[in-house]
Amino acid sequence: MAKSKSKDRTLAIDIGGSGIKAMVLDRKGRPLGDRVRVQTPQPATPEALLRAIADLAEQAGACDQVSVGFPGVVRHGIVSTAVNLHPNWVEFDLASTLSESLGQPVRVANDADIQGFGAISGQGVELVITLGTGFGTALFVDGKLVPNLEGGHHPFRKKQTYEQQLGRAALEKVGTKKWNKRLKKAICKLQHLFNADRIYLGGGEAKKVDCELPKNVSIVPNINGLLGGIALWNL
Ligand code: BGC
Repeated sequence: MAKSKSKDRTLAIDIGGSGIKAMVLDRKGRPLGDRVRVQTPQPATPEALLRAIADLAEQAGACDQVSVGFPGVVRHGIVSTAVNLHPNWVEFDLASTLSESLGQPVRVANDADIQGFGAISGQGVELVITLGTGFGTALFVDGKLVPNLEGGHHPFRKKQTYEQQLGRAALEKVGTKKWNKRLKKAICKLQHLFNADRIYLGGGEAKKVDCELPKNVSIVPNINGLLGGIALWNL
């Protein structure tokens, strides 16, 4: 990613499996307006999402540049995986297509990575876990991102991945109590792997966390998925 200074108005967009959120930020990443949201269209094809984003961008107001958090692996603006959206996303050039449709420069990163930028202190090993439709992970070392970690699709327990055990579908199936028990186990296992100084729990379902957390684990607001977007222009 080329170095550049942030401009006056950055439109931050957070694409999720159930909702797409947007908000305009100032140079320092502070909100300049209200958050706007629409439901993620189903089927969540590139065309349907791009239409929804164009609507949201209009509601959010004028901007000079755009940051997008995408729920999958993204390299140089091109999508590699999108397990909770539509198969047509694979190989889709989201940055260029959106830039053409919005008429502004666009940078795209993984949604958990952006949540992380909004949450971390920049010191030591920091792990961010997002709880929503999927199970997102982001790892930072002294503020430097290890991009596209994708821990959610790694084996966790009972021959299932973290996402299969802790994604929204699992939460709805097993209920909050059991999900919290699983979450504790997941935190323990991930801590064993990364020995993180801090672990942050974000995402839309973090509000359902109701268990005693280790001292180095905290819950962060889901708005970080938008606020962290400014970091893509300050890298
Ligand atoms: C995706 C990740 C994403 C996470 C949260 C997972 O299914 O593979 O890239 O960060 O969901 O949206």
